[in-house]
Amino acid sequence: MILFNVKEHVKYNMFVLTHSLPQSVDPIKCTIAFFTLSSLDVLDMMDSIEEKKEHYINWIYRFQIEDENVGGFKNDQCFENDIAKCAHIAGTYSALNNLLILGDDFKRVDRVSIIKSLRQLQLDDGSFIGSKKGTENDMRFVYCAACICYILNDWSGMDVEKAVDYILKSISYDGAIAQGPELESHGGSTYCAVATLFLTKNLDRLSSKQRDNLIRWVVNRQLEGFQGRPNKMWDSCYTFWLGATLKMLDAYEYIDQERLENFVLSTQCYRSGGFGKNSSSDADPMHTYLALSGLSLLKTHKCNEVMPALNITYRAYDHLQNVHEAWRG
Ligand code: FPP
Ligand code: ZN
Repeated sequence: MILFNVKEHVKYNMFVLTHSLPQSVDPIKCTIAFFTLSSLDVLDMMDSIEEKKEHYINWIYRFQIEDENVGGFKNDQCFENDIAKCAHIAGTYSALNNLLILGDDFKRVDRVSIIKSLRQLQLDDGSFIGSKKGTENDMRFVYCAACICYILNDWSGMDVEKAVDYILKSISYDGAIAQGPELESHGGSTYCAVATLFLTKNLDRLSSKQRDNLIRWVVNRQLEGFQGRPNKMWDSCYTFWLGATLKMLDAYEYIDQERLENFVLSTQCYRSGGFGKNSSSDADPMHTYLALSGLSLLKTHKCNEVMPALNITYRAYDHLQNVHEAWRG
């Protein structure tokens, strides 16, 4: 059995957090902050940044745009005189997650602007574009939209029925789900689609045949670890994307969990701490987080478990319940 090197992973995430994030004016760092903060949360180390929390919270709010058409949080760098200044759905998704992990009270979140702006990003086919500036539309942004509505407890930000229709039309001939209709199914888009069905309470819209085919496809992606699609290399990030998918479908027991654990532990990077995508690659914040959150689903090590659909710990999820409680008055 390979050792789970907790100390080194804490060091790696603290390094990324303290050396590259708080000084930065680059909002893409908000996504990296999510990977490192949530990693520290899985490792049960949030106390170690207690005195910095307020500073990080203030840093995140700097990226908020309060505007009923282009509101939310930025994830690209806007210059002072940029007339096309607008929020991005992925920036809003990671900012809200960060605020939850840091225990913010959400009092400065402009919920009305976010929800009104979000609604304008949904296309007729049910999918979402990332921002008013962008044209790409896919399952990632459908998932981000569902998380935003769920966190803000306001589903007027999306037409759920249209989104479900888009998901059902994106089921491929092989049983798994693609970024959109007629595209190749993939572990990442499958996760986004299943999590959206879960968050919107629409998992039962899959027929039992669709559900069985989907489970079979995901289970067959396990070699040592999971691969993201047939004939590709296994990769530590799918420990979460596909592990969480099986959890939501109540089918996690069908995989070889010991083999998966050995694989994910073999992707730990001994030089720097953190995890790479496989045993010969360098660590990066995204694979570090997804390996750790995937490992938490196995429940074999002492760490905080992640809620599969929202991809934050149950500790942060509990805080969300408190925020919702406060809104209800
Ligand atoms: C690699 O494609 C792509 C990924 C590893 C990301 C997949 C994850 C998602 C689409 C979910 C994103 C979620 C949010 C919240 C934005 P590749 O073709 O390089 O990798 P492959 O060889 O493993 O298929
Ligand atoms: Zn990967």
